[in-house]
Amino acid sequence: MKFVILTDTHFVEPGRLLYGLDPAARLAAAVHVINRDHADIAFAIVTGDLAHWGEIAAYAELKRVMGGLAAPVILMMGNHDRREPLRAVFADADDDGNGYVQSVRRFEAATVITLDTADEESRTHAGFLCPARLAFFDRALAEAPPDRPVLLFQHHPPFDTGLPHLDRIRLRNPEALWAVFERRRRPDHIFLGHVHRPIAGTWRGVPFHIQRATNHQVAFDLVSEEIPGSLEMPDYSLVSVAKDAIVIHQRPFLYDGPVYWLHDKAAQDAPSTAALAG
Ligand SMILES: [Fe+2]
Repeated sequence: MKFVILTDTHFVEPGRLLYGLDPAARLAAAVHVINRDHADIAFAIVTGDLAHWGEIAAYAELKRVMGGLAAPVILMMGNHDRREPLRAVFADADDDGNGYVQSVRRFEAATVITLDTADEESRTHAGFLCPARLAFFDRALAEAPPDRPVLLFQHHPPFDTGLPHLDRIRLRNPEALWAVFERRRRPDHIFLGHVHRPIAGTWRGVPFHIQRATNHQVAFDLVSEEIPGSLEMPDYSLVSVAKDAIVIHQRPFLYDGPVYWLHDKAAQDAPSTAALAG
């Protein structure tokens, strides 16, 4: 099974820019490349922060752009999102029975679980999993077929990444999440949003993956208390789940520079990178 991850689309109402960038144009560029190159994906998932201010007009614009994607789409909540306007536009958004945007999907290759870590009441941008959401997750893990991997998706990392400004607004109650892992089983991989940077590693032995946003990025800065923005290129991820491996490619979908053959002598001897374009 293959699928694509997009994250932190941060849509605004049509006609507006965010940090000088057009979130809709950026996502449309990703949609174009995904349709062209990945006709075989089972789904595309957006791991939260769908809209920057959570207005209906922004979700409507997201729906328009996402409507161009050939593959099915899974939408998740981030700290910038609001459930009511999201549901006003996406009437078929996931609902775990308690109003949270959470889901379980069983595929041949893997069980895909999405959690809603948004804490709309607190407005601190940190994440939280209340008892109702954790109970849903507990059930999802308990019922996941043991013969295939569990892929867990949630917006907020449950651990420190070393970026002080974002560690302050990570998941507030990681131990409650970990307790469910301990009681049922550990997911085989955790996919996260929120950080707008490419980071990979393990949390207590469980591998995780974080990727760039489609709109604005967070700069590499292990010191500042404020969140530093940057204009680094956006990525999407292409994930393939095989019997013995989960492989994740990150693709800078806006790159339009030259591609050349590494074994080509003329390319090796190019007097400048500009010469490669010819
Ligand atoms: Fe974000």
